[in-house]
Amino acid sequence: MAFLISLLFFSISIAYLSVSSSQIVLPLSHSMSKTKFNNTHHLLKSSSVQSATRFRNHHHRHLHRRQISLPLSAGSDYTLTFSLGSNPPQTISLYMDTGSDLVWSPCAPFECILCEGKYDTSSASLVPPNISSSAFVPCKSPFCSAVHSSLPSSDLCAISHCPLETIEISDCSSFACPPFYYAYADGSFIARLYRDSISIPMSSPSLHLKNFTFGCAHTSLAEPIGVAGFGRGVLSLPAQLANLSPQLGNSFSYCLISHSFDDQRIRRPSPLILGRYSLDDEKKQQSVEEEGEFQYTQMLDNPKYPYFYCVGLEAISVGRVRIAAPEMLKMVNSKGDGGMVVDSGTTFTMLPAKLYEAVVAEFDRRVDRVYKRSRETEDQTGLGPCYYIDKAAFGKVPKVAFHFVGNARVVLPTRNYFFRFNGGDGVGKKTNVGCLMLMNGGDDAESGGPGATLGNYQQQGFEVIYDLEKGRVGFARKQCATLWDSLNRGGSTSSSPSTGRTGTSPSDDRHMGLG
Ligand SMILES: *[C@@H]1O[C@H](CO)[C@@H](O)[C@H](O)[C@H]1NC(C)=O
Ligand SMILES: *[C@@H]1O[C@H](CO)[C@@H](O)[C@H](O)[C@H]1NC(C)=O
Ligand SMILES: *[C@@H]1O[C@H](CO)[C@@H](O)[C@H](O)[C@H]1NC(C)=O
Repeated sequence: MAFLISLLFFSISIAYLSVSSSQIVLPLSHSMSKTKFNNTHHLLKSSSVQSATRFRNHHHRHLHRRQISLPLSAGSDYTLTFSLGSNPPQTISLYMDTGSDLVWSPCAPFECILCEGKYDTSSASLVPPNISSSAFVPCKSPFCSAVHSSLPSSDLCAISHCPLETIEISDCSSFACPPFYYAYADGSFIARLYRDSISIPMSSPSLHLKNFTFGCAHTSLAEPIGVAGFGRGVLSLPAQLANLSPQLGNSFSYCLISHSFDDQRIRRPSPLILGRYSLDDEKKQQSVEEEGEFQYTQMLDNPKYPYFYCVGLEAISVGRVRIAAPEMLKMVNSKGDGGMVVDSGTTFTMLPAKLYEAVVAEFDRRVDRVYKRSRETEDQTGLGPCYYIDKAAFGKVPKVAFHFVGNARVVLPTRNYFFRFNGGDGVGKKTNVGCLMLMNGGDDAESGGPGATLGNYQQQGFEVIYDLEKGRVGFARKQCATLWDSLNRGGSTSSSPSTGRTGTSPSDDRHMGLG
């Protein structure tokens, strides 16, 4: 095992050294606020409600192309910090979301209606930037069409009062793309598109994009924090990166630190890796059998929700019992319904009712023999089944694995689906409880929209790779904290092997300017 691990890190640092300009490592931070969620029941309830809202929204609002994604999660999502513009650079923190495609930020002056208690107002990175020096995006731009649900640019130019003769000779570049409305399940905003330089000073090497297109909102309803969309679609961050540097934009991965809501662990940075080994490097990877670690499944094209990373789920096994998923989870039909969305912006995995019930029944059949159900905890957290447990609980809980189309078997670490905590409510009362961390998406899942969502809680401790070139998603068990250290160490040794620098501000020779 130790040999395997050292082999693995050896291969990573080799890959990093040989392609150091085609890979950038960034820190993802968990946004859980300590002051807000000092009560576990409250935290779980809030996360479970949020996961359900985001999932249900896929089903009830899908008449509107853009109203399907809910990146806002009180206390459960991951953020990326950017630096916007250059005179002076302004810091913004955005949720990293693979379930949507737009990058947007609140901008000064910013009015957020019904935002009380939704964010930590003391955070400096939440001061809305002043975009007075950013350039607007013209109505003719393909980005403008994309953000307006593919409305033709001639229509958009007419809306922005470009005269007909100018539209006909297609020179409306001095007319700005009209504002657009964008809605999530529990919030919405109106924004305009702008271009400016953005950089991620914390990345290694530091990333600088000169001409990045993003939405800027002066008013929002219940959306105090912006989103960095990593979904498929021209507006997303990887897509814009791919225009400038295909080797950086054609693949990204993240490795979410296993936290189990632990206060210390949750504050450690999780690596987000843009770009990956070129084909040659991948062959090298294969030769040291690192590649074999990833379990790959094909991305399914989705005609209705093209920005989703949909994959096919064939079965879930609980112990040795394999429970087949309904047909609709294995494929996406011509209406865009079905499949499982791999989502960084939803906390808990949502399954259609029948599959969820079958998984719970088998799980409960096994665990109920040893532990008593805690209905009280189920009511308080919105999760279930929950049990009164003892210290040995992890050994008594059956193994759970997801089986994806293409023979990809992903065995979850127990802590990814069974959460142990002190369920005592009264002062001084300590009761150990444990809950299954999968959720019932209800029958809605059968009525259209994605069939299931793979949430970030179940992705902890895996490197999840989105290989856009080959159209596949891969999962490999990793020690994410060690991966973070080793990737950053690999970066600093590439220029001077002996310095062993550990700081986060990279030297100029590793600075990448694009665009
Ligand atoms: C959380 O902690 C604050 C003080 O830091 C306290 O006022 C509040 O009541 C606590 N909330 C819960 C739900 O325990
Ligand atoms: C933004 O900056 C410009 C120029 O520096 C200034 O005139 C303007 O008042 C600022 N806007 C806000 C909302 O702070
Ligand atoms: C930014 O990109 C657009 C096309 O995507 C181009 O028309 C424009 O000139 C660019 N601006 C700068 C400052 O490079």
